[in-house]
Amino acid sequence: MQALRIHEHGGPEVLRVEEVPAPEPGPGEVLVRVLAVSLNHLDLWVRRGMPGVTIPFPRTLGCDGTGEVVALGPGTSGLALGQRVVIEPGISSGASRHDLEGNDHLSDDYGIRGEHCDGLDCEFVALPARFVFPLPEGLDPLQAASAPLTFLTAWAMVFQRARVQPGETVLVLGGASGVGSAAIQMCREIGARVITTGGSEAKRALCLELGAEVALDPGRPGWDKELRRLTQGRGVDVVVEHVGPATWDASLRALARNGRLVTCGSTTGPKVSLTLPHLFIKNLSVLGSTMGPRKALPEIMRRLADGRWRTAVDRVLPLSCARAAHEALEARAVVGKIVLVPGE
Ligand SMILES: NC(=O)c1ccc[n+]([C@@H]2O[C@H](COP(=O)([O-])OP(=O)(O)OC[C@H]3O[C@@H](n4cnc5c(N)ncnc54)[C@H](OP(=O)(O)O)[C@@H]3O)[C@@H](O)[C@H]2O)c1
Repeated sequence: MQALRIHEHGGPEVLRVEEVPAPEPGPGEVLVRVLAVSLNHLDLWVRRGMPGVTIPFPRTLGCDGTGEVVALGPGTSGLALGQRVVIEPGISSGASRHDLEGNDHLSDDYGIRGEHCDGLDCEFVALPARFVFPLPEGLDPLQAASAPLTFLTAWAMVFQRARVQPGETVLVLGGASGVGSAAIQMCREIGARVITTGGSEAKRALCLELGAEVALDPGRPGWDKELRRLTQGRGVDVVVEHVGPATWDASLRALARNGRLVTCGSTTGPKVSLTLPHLFIKNLSVLGSTMGPRKALPEIMRRLADGRWRTAVDRVLPLSCARAAHEALEARAVVGKIVLVPGE
């Protein structure tokens, strides 16, 4: 079968589409023909390499996607051949305290497909049946494939960590990103007012379509002052951050008294600074957040299926065009998500 693998870290040139043996499903596993995989920023991190993280080579990339069950391993029940499924990005033993409390993403043994094990950028994948669940009727597998990792992450940031409340004002950075586009819709569902940023006209237009009231250009000097004006000088209650140093100071300055900044990412670098008197005098909270609970995925898929939320698929490309896809995401030239289709 075809698989997108890396044998070393580096730029998009290290991506290789190769012929590899198709896997066989073991006991309790299903064999899934992959219909669609989304491209996440995490794919870029894994390809480039991250300090302190050892990735064994070769590594197949791809964190989340959809597929069709084509074989059942010995003793596997509850899924039928031909069933279309959503494949969870997270992996864990299921046995830890956090797992049992429904917060698998907080477990010490939690990992992500395409980083901690081989991923889904291939034609067939064999995996334990508990990591797939039926694709809701009527939900396009290409749309569904683009949601799991980023919607789960935004779910935890908005509902569990920042606990956004009705009537609050939220600044969502990079509203046309995977995480940002999900966060806008979640905050709107709660009844919060959303102000966002987008690096191009098309990105800002998408943010408005998704429910943001205003979309500011983060490349335009003074966008943070405009944000103050929009909140009558008060600032926002919550900032959904994932950009890092490029926006960090403005994000902190944007917070009103008692404000919460929640972050899941460091796209523009790993280090930021904090002015302690500003933090404590304004009674601010800075919250880290990573991935989200698997129990939220069926809820997310239900909302996508009934049209309450949507994913913004910028383009669908064959897996053989993965290099162009990585280059576009790296260049901030994607409005929403890229979906890859193996076997084409
Ligand atoms: N910890 C976790 O569990 C977790 C989970 C998911 C994602 N993440 C991280 O969160 C980040 C976002 O992920 P994603 O998949 O949503 O990424 P994405 O779709 O690639 O979007 C990245 C966004 O970053 C913004 N950006 C990049 N450089 C910027 C700059 N200099 N100034 C302002 N904005 C800039 C871009 O916004 P504009 O071009 O519109 O300005 C773009 O929309 C990544 O770092 C990812 O690794 C972490």
